Amino acid sequence: MAHSKSKVLIIGATGYIGKYLVNASVKLGHPTFVLLRSLTTSDPPKAELVKSFQESGVTLLKGDVNDYESLVAALRQVDVVISTVSGPAALSQVKILDAAKEAGTIKRFIPSEFGHDVDRLEIDFKDMEGLFGTKRTVRREIEKSGIPYTFVISGGFAGYFVANLANDNVTSPPRDKVTIWGDGTAKAILNTEEDIATYTIKSVDDPRVENKFLHIRPKENIISQGELVALWEKKIGTTLEKTVVSKEELRKIIEETPFPANVIHAIRYSAFVKGDLTSFELNANDVEAAELYPDVQYTTVSAYLDQFL
Ligand SMILES: NC(=O)c1ccc[n+]([C@@H]2O[C@H](COP(=O)([O-])OP(=O)(O)OC[C@H]3O[C@@H](n4cnc5c(N)ncnc54)[C@H](OP(=O)(O)O)[C@@H]3O)[C@@H](O)[C@H]2O)c1
Repeated sequence: MAHSKSKVLIIGATGYIGKYLVNASVKLGHPTFVLLRSLTTSDPPKAELVKSFQESGVTLLKGDVNDYESLVAALRQVDVVISTVSGPAALSQVKILDAAKEAGTIKRFIPSEFGHDVDRLEIDFKDMEGLFGTKRTVRREIEKSGIPYTFVISGGFAGYFVANLANDNVTSPPRDKVTIWGDGTAKAILNTEEDIATYTIKSVDDPRVENKFLHIRPKENIISQGELVALWEKKIGTTLEKTVVSKEELRKIIEETPFPANVIHAIRYSAFVKGDLTSFELNANDVEAAELYPDVQYTTVSAYLDQFL
């Protein structure tokens, strides 16, 4: 059967955000491929995930970002490549570019971003070079490569920052006490993983997003930590006991906590204390997802919190 929609390869499909992209790609009708480092695994949740991919018609390919031949062979089968790799594999994404040139089939590359606009923030802590700095490096290599791209600036994941009201060691919003970072007024952007995946997949065949920055900032999801906590307090009819960690105290925590445990604090500092997610206006190279795709019924932060009532 001929497909009018691009064939999409996801590298990092078994990761936290990768699986949402696989599901969205299938749901939106794209022939979907995943590159797996191993086709067999003794890790039960991962095995279950891979089985669910297969059951939904996803093509499994064996390969590794660091194995050039496997990359070229995988890229030759598709039109679009989305990377959701993290950590040590992040810099090796530049190898995808060489492989894409050799494959000659790739119409869009979406690298592993899914967070801040890393060109529009100051890297305050040397330990953040590995995350923000590497993403910058990968961007520059992609821009030089001539391979069409989209950089997805998603803001914070709801599962990481809404479900716990941006607190540590809880998996649902606290009902008694909460820590507030800084004065709690800096505006962040918080989106569900499903919506981030949907907007990303909607963009892959969209010429308006080619060589652009896709910002996912629906108006109702631009919210400070103070507003997030107040929203939850209203829903549960309780005022939470608040411990305020000042900007200076949080800086000290980041400096004194060993890497990589300090990274989550540094991300909170950037998003919820400095307001790096919202501290700039969009310009001609930027497109906003909710405006571009008004048909997507995105989940608001408020609706997301309702699942915990
Ligand atoms: N905005 C936010 O709130 C937020 C939160 C978290 C993450 N993020 C961003 O989202 C992106 C993805 O992070 P994540 O947490 O979803 O990642 P993750 O869960 O650590 O998953 C990484 C994935 O990459 C795969 N991988 C690693 N090395 C590979 C290699 N050499 N070749 C092929 N595949 C390889 C892993 O495969 P295996 O299964 O084989 O290990 C896994 O599927 C990152 O850019 C991160 O910064 C944003």
